[in-house]
Amino acid sequence: MSQIEILVGSTLGGTEYVAEAAQTLLEEAFFDTDLHLEPDLNEMSLQEEQIWLVCLATHGAGDYPENFKDFVDQLQQVNAPLDGVRYAIVGIGDSNYDTFCEAAKNLDYILEEMGAQRIGDRLEIDVVVHPMPEDRIADWIPLLIEDLNELID
Ligand SMILES: Cc1cc2nc3c(=O)[nH]c(=O)nc-3n(C[C@H](O)[C@H](O)[C@H](O)COP(=O)(O)O)c2cc1C
Repeated sequence: MSQIEILVGSTLGGTEYVAEAAQTLLEEAFFDTDLHLEPDLNEMSLQEEQIWLVCLATHGAGDYPENFKDFVDQLQQVNAPLDGVRYAIVGIGDSNYDTFCEAAKNLDYILEEMGAQRIGDRLEIDVVVHPMPEDRIADWIPLLIEDLNELID
């Protein structure tokens, strides 16, 4: 189970850089990855065990980016538990907003409620502190890789 589905929610494109940086590091560690810039649940085989890495910005007033809204709607229509899904989640946001990283927090809650199991802690990247959020992910991916290797062993 060394395949990672990288799901991206982004409006202005910054989170795509974060996801691409994560992809490069995961592939250097010999994981296979697929980058989903327009996530579509119909493309995921929920019958099989899978690992997701969600990289998700917050927009609006704590809302999901436009390209991610359909995916959340699709998830909420699934009637079966997501017990074959393990996921890691990275929120990208701006701490000047009261709704800091709200989209990632909400999705984390939804996935957990649906029976998916999170790998490690949720990472929240504050663009005020990290104007280049892809640099922050480079520090975090090695921790994720440790968790993934334990999962796979
Ligand atoms: C119109 C607008 C609304 C935003 N709303 C929020 C918000 O509610 N919470 C938050 O944490 N960040 C918010 N942000 C900050 C973005 O999440 C941040 O700029 C992020 O890097 C954007 O990622 P993207 O380039 O992938 O779209 C907002 C940014 C914009 C431009």
